[in-house]
Amino acid sequence: MATSKSFIKANSQTELAGQQADRKLDRLDSLRGSVSDVMAEDTFGPLSNVRFAVFALGSSAYPNFCAFGKYVDNLLGELGGERLLKLSQGDEMCGQEQTFRKWAPEVFSVACETFCLDDDDTFLEATLALRSPTLSSATVRLVGAKQESIAKALSKYHNRKVTPCQLLRKTNLHGSDASRATMLLELAADLPYTPGDHVGVFACNRQELVDGVLSRLQTTTDPDEPVELQVQKETHTSNGVLKTWEPHERLPPCTIRILFSRFLDITTPPTPNLLQHFASIATDPEDQRRLTLLATESAAYEDWRHWRIPHLLEVLEEFPSVHPSPALLAAQLTPLQPRFYSISSSPIVQSGQIHITVAVVSYRTQDGEGPVHYGVCSNYLRDANEGDDINLFVRSAQSFYLPPDVSRPVIMVGPGTGIAPFRGFWQHRMAQLHAAAGGQVFGKMWLFFGCRQHALDLYREEKARMLEEGVLAKVYLALSREPTIPKTYVQDLLRKEAAAVYQKIVIEGGHFYVCGDCTMAEHVYQMLKLIIQEHGGMLDSEVESYMLTLRDENRYHEDIFG
Ligand code: 2AM
Repeated sequence: MATSKSFIKANSQTELAGQQADRKLDRLDSLRGSVSDVMAEDTFGPLSNVRFAVFALGSSAYPNFCAFGKYVDNLLGELGGERLLKLSQGDEMCGQEQTFRKWAPEVFSVACETFCLDDDDTFLEATLALRSPTLSSATVRLVGAKQESIAKALSKYHNRKVTPCQLLRKTNLHGSDASRATMLLELAADLPYTPGDHVGVFACNRQELVDGVLSRLQTTTDPDEPVELQVQKETHTSNGVLKTWEPHERLPPCTIRILFSRFLDITTPPTPNLLQHFASIATDPEDQRRLTLLATESAAYEDWRHWRIPHLLEVLEEFPSVHPSPALLAAQLTPLQPRFYSISSSPIVQSGQIHITVAVVSYRTQDGEGPVHYGVCSNYLRDANEGDDINLFVRSAQSFYLPPDVSRPVIMVGPGTGIAPFRGFWQHRMAQLHAAAGGQVFGKMWLFFGCRQHALDLYREEKARMLEEGVLAKVYLALSREPTIPKTYVQDLLRKEAAAVYQKIVIEGGHFYVCGDCTMAEHVYQMLKLIIQEHGGMLDSEVESYMLTLRDENRYHEDIFG
């Protein structure tokens, strides 16, 4: 008799680059090999007491859509698990939220039925809540409250210890007059970390966006008075329905202005659900009609969202008869998430400090013809003043660290801001070299960096110094748009140095690191594989297995983003 259950929401970040998902699947295949040995003795499969349902997340813009979720669903089935519902796929490009909203209550009811919980009041209530997640102006309210410190409130809201760290210095690495900005930020932070770790930074939304949104709210509450958001809860008792007001699960007591500056995401395009709410409060029939269309017609919504990439203020400007209540709007918006940056310093060299390298992002919507949009965190950091507190926490990189055995060679590949963690690596190695006893052998460190033109080279002088001091043995520069030089990418330079790369990684057992965007990372991976295959005279299957070994031995390290 089955007693356990398992709901798996499979999020395939790896699918961002389809081939990366393939590599993950290769690894799962090897795991499957060992599990099938177990299965040979158990005709029902080792998971015959597990019931499951998988909701796969992905983007149909990339190859291998939802590959990881599909794989997990298949694997659990093959291992004897019993499927509660057939696999559901949420497409980031189209209707992901609606698909999930349909799936969640469905899977919940099926599970309640399967596990004979459908008579239980608590479960019935939870099912009802899942089916009708929308709040109304009668079920949320703001009441006066006492405000706590921002860092404390952020810690509670995000369920992690957030520390305010003073900004000591910021420098535009392209020069103070340059039109592009990549900032080095030096923060006073007495937090333990290892080079390779990340910091999660809590930004503030741009003031003009917050002011614009506040000016369109329907409220008499002073935006600078601390308030608490409360939600009405209904409990079904034998005497009927009991209604009570409770503080919102996570939103802290603070002013409406702080709520919209620091806690709520007002830049991601509003969801169809929110547009439906706006349609219900719009006073102009034309606003109502268009908002209802966007909220209910998936194709119209997706066209509008991809073309305008509208933030909340732009939506309120497009539909001027909409004036939401701050309480209801706050309850419906998603949290403003931390943004992650690789640490660019060493705790030995920059003791009591954390440095980060941040590319400042801005772009025009509507194929470059629309208004300028600004990346939330990078612009917040660019505009921060020395002396300001930046709220952050350290997140472990899991395995993106220098080799524990310092004698192993190191190859680092990081074009653009992919160089960020490697600055921490070379600083740390410099300190290790200074502290080393005579006779200790250090593996050579090679850096492959890429940018468009010479003028965009990052940490040029520091790299030259590290070369002089023997911290870095070689530094390669791939220039992709320098008028006098043929377009070169980091993987082209790896190919040029193929024999030496093979020697360092395969013969000397070195470590290979790649940091940067996922397409570049995939191209670099394929190039390394080719180099190893050619120089090792390997068959396809042999090189595939060698690449898996590299990962299993923790010698191939990736820190990549979409
Ligand atoms: P590009 O913008 O001229 O195409 C940092 O962004 C550097 O990485 C730039 O020189 C950029 O070149 C380059 N780059 C872009 N796509 C890449 C890829 N797939 N592989 C390697 N480098 C890439």
